[in-house]
Amino acid sequence: MKKSKKLVNNQVSFQGLENKTIVLGISGGIAAYKCLDLISSLRGMGANVHCVLSHNAHEFVTPLSLSTISRNKVHTNNFEIKDSWQPEHIELAKLADLILIAPATADIIAKLAHGICDDLLTTFVLASKAKVLIAPAMNPNMYDHPATKHNLSILEHKLRYQIIAPEFGEMACGDIGYGKMAQISSIAQIVASRLEVHGSLFEKKILITAGGTREPIDPVRFIGNRSSGKMGIAMADAAYARGADVTLVSTVKVERSYPVILVETAQEMQESVESEFDTCDALIMTAAVADFRPLFVSVHKIKKSDSEDFTLDLTQNPDIIDLLGRVKRENQIIIGFAAESEELLSNASQKLKRKKLDLIIANDITVPEIGFGSDDNAVIILSNDGNKETLPRMPKRAIAEHICDILASRFLEIKELTLH
Ligand code: CTP
Repeated sequence: MKKSKKLVNNQVSFQGLENKTIVLGISGGIAAYKCLDLISSLRGMGANVHCVLSHNAHEFVTPLSLSTISRNKVHTNNFEIKDSWQPEHIELAKLADLILIAPATADIIAKLAHGICDDLLTTFVLASKAKVLIAPAMNPNMYDHPATKHNLSILEHKLRYQIIAPEFGEMACGDIGYGKMAQISSIAQIVASRLEVHGSLFEKKILITAGGTREPIDPVRFIGNRSSGKMGIAMADAAYARGADVTLVSTVKVERSYPVILVETAQEMQESVESEFDTCDALIMTAAVADFRPLFVSVHKIKKSDSEDFTLDLTQNPDIIDLLGRVKRENQIIIGFAAESEELLSNASQKLKRKKLDLIIANDITVPEIGFGSDDNAVIILSNDGNKETLPRMPKRAIAEHICDILASRFLEIKELTLH
């Protein structure tokens, strides 16, 4: 399997853009200053980045900083005398595996929609057959304007360019609304997935659960467990970084660019997972779901009584993964986790079979310093085709990347099977 990962600050990051050339078109908006970070991200993923500036972009970012960060000459002028005999727009057009226009102003969007070629940037885009991604950034009223909407629709539907939707927020001018350029990490992830690099999960809908459920006893107390949610969140981040359409159902509050549904109890988790399950390609149940909940939840705080003993009646919670394993479509993938304190392999393989899972990720919770609450873990991955893989201690994100690799290969197998 081709390796496309590297360790940065003890975190594994997904690369995958080696040998890919991205031509970054920068038009004249305030968000142009963010291009320096964007170039760094793309280069960090292995890409070779060439920048083309529109005339106005010079006002916001300098060719010197762009060429220093990209480590390539910056292209600005259509009629420059240079070493190569080929016109610059044709040379750039052939060089690009992918064209990314970020930021894309209302002006460049309008020009591209109507085939206007009045500078190097517009000319080379028209001359190229590469995929084009557009990351608009402008004032909310300009973004909302029917002319811009119409032009974006031409780009998206007629020319098949992919629009990376801007985000909501406060603009440099102080206005609030949609128009902020998408986050650099999101743009970089979409670039990777559009290039269909190895291990991509582009357009796969992946539902992930994280954390430990809490089952209320009274308004103050609950039955809980030690799960920190770190593994599930690492799973969701890794899948999102590979272009997946991620939904995280979590008992732990996190701010992310993908949707996070906050739940508390096993029943709430079941409800959220079931409502998303039909449309998902894979379910990854990382959460530690309480097997039992109090039969009755006291409305008031339970008081100490004179008796030495206190009995709490419990009733069984639904086994979410088990129920969904029974109704899953043939091409849906279900992955479970098993934290065991004894008989690791036999317990995990029984769960794999009993719950009709595709994979189970098993870990031994008796090993000190890894597991619950830790940033690291060591796991054994058992798969329904009989494979067994042992991953030594490593960051949870690295384990998540490994699971994403397996998931991406499974999706490829499914795709090949449906094609034949
Ligand atoms: N799981 C679930 N619903 C439950 C319990 C567990 O969906 N009510 C899922 C977990 O998210 C995990 C897998 O089942 O992916 C295995 O969880 P685990 O607690 O190890 O399995 P149990 O079947 O509960 O077995 P036991 O607690 O007896 O070890």
